Amino acid sequence: MTDSGVEPNAKPPASVLFVCLGNICRSPLAEGIFRRLLNETGLGKEIHVDSAGTGAWHVGGAPDTRSIEPAARHGLDIAGQRARKVRDADFENFGLILAMDRSNRDTLLARAPASARNRIHLFMEHSLGISADVPDPYYGAGDGFEAVYRMLEEGSSALVEKLVAGRRSLSG
Ligand code: 4NP
Repeated sequence: MTDSGVEPNAKPPASVLFVCLGNICRSPLAEGIFRRLLNETGLGKEIHVDSAGTGAWHVGGAPDTRSIEPAARHGLDIAGQRARKVRDADFENFGLILAMDRSNRDTLLARAPASARNRIHLFMEHSLGISADVPDPYYGAGDGFEAVYRMLEEGSSALVEKLVAGRRSLSG
């Protein structure tokens, strides 16, 4: 526990925030995929999940249809999500903040108070140990979104496994 009341990563985070640029393509998918996996393991009620963007262009808007469609093909409905921008309070409220790419990670690190910096990570690095970005699909073809979906599902599965293992070791 620090002076700001923020607890460092001594235990599995009780909240996870996924961050991309617009909060309409990658991070809404990550939020939906991760929440579904959490629910399947029974941890859904214990861990708060949200997503946000470092940019404000799409605030209040629904996810991009090119993200809604691959999610729907995988049986996941993300259409009800609404984009929001990262808030200062997020740095206090979330135990784990996962950026989709280095650019957004660096934006978060530049904005975050020192006490929150150790809770900001690159999604693929933190989940799978791979130092890679989840590529921005916004200006690309629709098939890029399926690749993004698969990356997010693989990373989210690994993340949930880590959380479950962490909880088990704490309760054991
Ligand atoms: P996202 O994709 O960061 O995965 O939501 C983008 C969405 C919108 C823009 C860029 C990337 N944009 O420039 O409006």
